[in-house]
Amino acid sequence: MPYVQGIYPILFKENLSKNVFDFTIKSKEIASLAQPGQFVQIRVPYMPLRRPISLADINLDKDYIRIVFEIKGQGTGYLAQFKAWDNLDILGPLGRGFTMLPPNKRVYLIGGGIGTPPLVPLAGYYGGNATVITGFRNAKAVILDDEFKKFFNEHILCTDDGSMGIKGFVTDVLYQRLKGGDRPDMIYACGPKPMLQRVAQLAAEFDIECEISMEERMACGIGACLGCACKTHEHDGTSSYAHVCKDGPVFNSKEVIF
Ligand SMILES: Cc1cc2nc3c(=O)[nH]c(=O)nc-3n(C[C@H](O)[C@H](O)[C@H](O)COP(=O)(O)OP(=O)(O)OC[C@H]3O[C@@H](n4cnc5c(N)ncnc54)[C@H](O)[C@@H]3O)c2cc1C
Ligand code: FES
Repeated sequence: MPYVQGIYPILFKENLSKNVFDFTIKSKEIASLAQPGQFVQIRVPYMPLRRPISLADINLDKDYIRIVFEIKGQGTGYLAQFKAWDNLDILGPLGRGFTMLPPNKRVYLIGGGIGTPPLVPLAGYYGGNATVITGFRNAKAVILDDEFKKFFNEHILCTDDGSMGIKGFVTDVLYQRLKGGDRPDMIYACGPKPMLQRVAQLAAEFDIECEISMEERMACGIGACLGCACKTHEHDGTSSYAHVCKDGPVFNSKEVIF
């Protein structure tokens, strides 16, 4: 996959919830190469390694990309200190994105917490043919709720404590829908590993195609350092290790060994 490295200005910065930031970044080069599900590697001050962040929007008409990230440690903490019109050193787009079906296909988008941003471009592409199920710890952690509504998708919001939307896990809602006879053409999921594992199980049980976006700690981000291994099934029944940065981050759910 072609990628570029360059210095790009932040056009807008927004604080979506405590410790979650949304940057709109001007980059015609990256926007013109990117696919939903791909990520960028961003250089942050004082850190030898870039930090991987998924693309939360790709706008070719207006030449920008968007990232939404949560402060987890020092690297994302430094990133959050950048302001509008500061420049970011970005490498991307990287990795393998989601398989895009014709937009009239029925899909489910399942997102957990800070795993929801990469689903935004899919929600825009599939519009009313997508059912979006997102889950968060509580009402204060909810992000991108209005964003999903604007695409006229069916959007079901869940919180663990019931402080907003339905009380429970996204996978409970997905199970109820599939058990009730709904048969989407594809399930896409991004979020914490236990959530992805359950989505993969449900996809297998109900025989539905499913793609999941995996996260591993990364160094180079381009397949050169063997730093982001993920155990996978081979076609001959053996197991192997794939690079999340190069072979993923999006995998068919049948490929991944949890
Ligand atoms: C392909 C990919 C896409 C990503 N997209 C996003 C995104 O859109 N938004 C977002 O907020 N975050 C995203 N992440 C996670 C983000 O890269 C990490 O939170 C960040 O690198 C942590 O850096 P730090 O220096 O702030 O924290 P560190 O001090 O490095 O780590 C803080 C904590 O986060 C954990 N952590 C660090 N890196 C990862 C990782 N790659 N996966 C899981 N846990 C990690 C550490 O184990 C530790 O507990 C993505 C990661 C990958 C691999
Ligand atoms: S991060 Fe170096 S191989 Fe994936």
